Amino acid sequence: MRQPLVAGNWKMNGSKAEAAELIEGIKAGSGAVSMAEIVVCPPYILIPGVADSLAGSSVAWGGQNLSTEPKGAFTGEISAAMLLDFGCKYVIVGHSERRALYGETDELVAEKYAVALEAGLVPILCVGELLEERESGTTEAVVGRQLDAVVARVGIAGIARGVIAYEPVWAIGTGKTATPDQAQEVHAFIRERLAKADAGVAEGVRILYGGSVKGANAAELFSMADIDGGLIGGASLAAEEFLTICRAAN
Ligand code: PGA
Repeated sequence: MRQPLVAGNWKMNGSKAEAAELIEGIKAGSGAVSMAEIVVCPPYILIPGVADSLAGSSVAWGGQNLSTEPKGAFTGEISAAMLLDFGCKYVIVGHSERRALYGETDELVAEKYAVALEAGLVPILCVGELLEERESGTTEAVVGRQLDAVVARVGIAGIARGVIAYEPVWAIGTGKTATPDQAQEVHAFIRERLAKADAGVAEGVRILYGGSVKGANAAELFSMADIDGGLIGGASLAAEEFLTICRAAN
């Protein structure tokens, strides 16, 4: 039985005051979510405040990215050890915005995944196809390639220690959610591909869906057999909306 997980990716949003209000709201409603795990991933600079507010609560927190380097002359970067030092449990790797806007390759994403695991963080690996890739029928080839790069780096055992998030790029921030069937099809594909290496790992690993998940469509998506929760962008910035999604996963 896979424990559902809902992770909020705040991206580059929020002030100190907004973060404090959002976290108070999430904490207040988290008692009604006993089964599903709730995670928030604020911008780096807001993590210390969020960590203080969430300490002792059932809500976990994580980073949106990390460096592959442990320390040193890497201006603007944040290491896995720094995230751990501030109590992060999770870290998102390979988000499509990192891939598209910051040139992160499959190999770099795999390295970040490996570094996160080695440090003791739980990586949330994002995979997903562009609209033109879906339209040209290469969704499985793209998602398979993104997945294989990580398996090649950390082995199938490394996949067991992380979380996968399927996020069709055309559904991110666009209001165009994949239909539950469209999402389920890719989730099942991911599980089948992993099962070729290890059926137990494939069965146990959590696969989240991400891309315009809202309170109104979450329950339907999460009811699909291979969808174990969500990675939530825009809708994670309002406590009540985010909690509605968390309750749907519960
Ligand atoms: P969205 O973003 O929910 O705003 O579509 C999802 C994500 O990028 O993780």
